[in-house]
Amino acid sequence: MTDERSAPAGARKTPEELRSARWFGPADLRSFGHRSRAMQMGYAPEEWAGRPVIAILNTWSDLQPCHSHFKTRVEDVKRGVLMAGGFPVELPALSLSESYLKPTSMLYRNMLAMEAEELLRAHPVDGVVLMGGCDKTTPALLLAATSMNIPAIFVPAGPMLRGNWHGKTLGSGSDSWKYWDELRAGKITDKDWLGVEGGIARSYGTCMTMGTASTMTAIAEAVGMVLPGGSSMLAADSGHIRLASESGRRIVEAVWEDLTPRKIQTFEAYENAIAVAMAMGCSTNAIIHLIAMARRAGHAIGLADFERFSRKVPVICNVRPTGDTYLMEDFFYAGGILALMNQMREHLHLGCMTISGQTLGENIEGAEVYNEDVIRTLDKPIYGEGSLAVLTGNLSPQGCVIKPAAMDQKFLKHSGPAVVFDDYPSLKKAVDDESWDITADHVLVLRNAGPQGGPGMPEWGMLPMPKKLLKEGHRDMLRISDARMSGTSYGACVLHVAPESFIGGPLALLRTGDIVSIDVDARSIKMEVSETELAARRAAWVAPAAHYERGYGWVFTKHIQQADEGCDFDFLRTDFGAPVPEPSI
Ligand code: FES
Ligand code: MG
Repeated sequence: MTDERSAPAGARKTPEELRSARWFGPADLRSFGHRSRAMQMGYAPEEWAGRPVIAILNTWSDLQPCHSHFKTRVEDVKRGVLMAGGFPVELPALSLSESYLKPTSMLYRNMLAMEAEELLRAHPVDGVVLMGGCDKTTPALLLAATSMNIPAIFVPAGPMLRGNWHGKTLGSGSDSWKYWDELRAGKITDKDWLGVEGGIARSYGTCMTMGTASTMTAIAEAVGMVLPGGSSMLAADSGHIRLASESGRRIVEAVWEDLTPRKIQTFEAYENAIAVAMAMGCSTNAIIHLIAMARRAGHAIGLADFERFSRKVPVICNVRPTGDTYLMEDFFYAGGILALMNQMREHLHLGCMTISGQTLGENIEGAEVYNEDVIRTLDKPIYGEGSLAVLTGNLSPQGCVIKPAAMDQKFLKHSGPAVVFDDYPSLKKAVDDESWDITADHVLVLRNAGPQGGPGMPEWGMLPMPKKLLKEGHRDMLRISDARMSGTSYGACVLHVAPESFIGGPLALLRTGDIVSIDVDARSIKMEVSETELAARRAAWVAPAAHYERGYGWVFTKHIQQADEGCDFDFLRTDFGAPVPEPSI
C-alpha cells in the first residue's frame, strides 16, 4: 500500500507539508476561522504555526477503572509533545470498559475503531498518541491508526498491581472464576468471597493476568507501535509517567520522519506479533483482533498462520492462566517483554522498523532476564508447541479455537454426548440444578453466542461447570460454543466456532445426545451425525429472530464478519470500495 502524501524514504517533512497546514496555513477565510478559534482557546500563533499537531486519543471515563490514571496521565503525554516542539490536542474517545459494558465490549470494538479513525480524519492532526489498554481499546485504536495511516504511537495503560487477599496473591479474572467455583462447591465462605472481591483489583491499570489486555499490548509492541518495553510497564510505576512523556516526545519526531503505521506494520511485523503472542501464552481473543488488524494493514492473515506459529513457538512466559504462579508484575520485574523477545530472537524478524525509529533487533539488544522461572528459555518452556490449536471438522468448517496450554490434558482427545443449550439463561439454570443427570464425560454446548447471535460474541465461552460436578471434585469438562472467552479464563473450552450457529452454521444442527469428538493432536472436531441426517436437519432449520431492527446493533449484525475473519465490518475491508478521500475544503 502507498500513501501519496508520504515524503520519500529518509526525507523529513517540512512545516508546509504537515497535514495540519491545510487547516492553519492558507491566507483564506476558512483558515482565518481555524486560526481565530485557536486564539479563542488562548493559543498564540507561535504555539501551533509550523508545528506538528498531535492528537491524543484518550479512552478515559468515570466507568473505566483500567484507565482511571489516563485522566491525569494525558498531561504527561502533552508535556512530552510540547517539549519536542509539537502542539498537543486531547480528543476523548469511546472508553470501552470491559468491566461494565453490556452485552459485551466486543459489540463496540468496531465502533471505537470507526470513531477514532474519523476523529483523526476530520481534525487538523499530523500524528496521534493512542491511549488504551483495556481489552478491546487496543485493537480498536490500532485499527483506526492503521486505516488512517498517520504516524501513531500506542501508550498502554499498563497492568495493575497483583491482587492480595489474606496474604494470597490474586489474579484478575482467573481467581474470580476459581473462587466462585470454590464458593459454589462450599469450600469457602461468603465472608471469604467478600474478601476476594475487595482485594482482587488494588490499583488502576489493566488486568494483571495474561488476559486480553496484556496480550494485546504485547502484540502492539511486537508489531512495532509501542516504545521499547512500554507494554510491560506497570500502571502504578513512575516509569509509566516517563513512558507517557517519552511517547509524546517521540511522536513529534515520527511525524517529521513520516513514520506511518503501514511502514511499520509489514507482514513480517505481524508474524512477529503472532510469534510473541504464542510465547506469551496469549488470550484466545488475540486471534480475532490480530486477524482484523493485519487485514486492515493489507495482509491476508488467518487461522492457518496461528496454527503455523503455534506449532513452532512454545510458551515461555510463566504468567497465569497458562503459567501457574506469576502475574504481570512479576513479568515486569523479570525483564518484561524486551527480555522475552530477546529469548526468542530466532523466531523473530529482527529487521522490522518500529515507532522508536529503531529496528526490533535494536530495541531488544542486550535485554536481560532477571528471573528464569518467569521468563523461560525456549528449551525449558511452560508449555511446548501448540499452546493454541485451531480445530476444523463438520461442526466448524471455518475453524474454531482451543487453548490446550490452559486445560486439563485428559480432554485433548475426548468423545461424549452433547448437552445443547440455545441461550445462556437456560444453561445457567441447568448448571445450578444439583439433581441434573450430568457427568464429566458429557459435552456442554452453548449456541447463539457468536458475532451476530450473542450479539457481539460475548465472553461466555468458559461455560460454567455444573454444580453437581464441582461438588464431586471435577474442575474441567469439554465445552463448546461460538462465543469467545476472557483471556483470564481456562478450561477445555472450544471457542469461536465458525460459521456461528445463529446464521445456520453446523453447530445449529447439533442435538442433545449426539456424540461430539475432538482430537487436538489431529486438530479435528466433529459430530457423529450422518450427512443425510444433517441435510434433513438443515432443511428444517429456522433462523432465530433478529436482535436489532434499527440503530448501531442493526448495522453491526448486517456487516460483522465471522470470527475466523477477525470480526471486522465487511465495508472496512481494504478491498471494499475506493480509499476514503482526505477532506479537501
Ligand atoms: Fe480492563 Fe481487564 S477489565 S483490562
Ligand atoms: Mg478480559
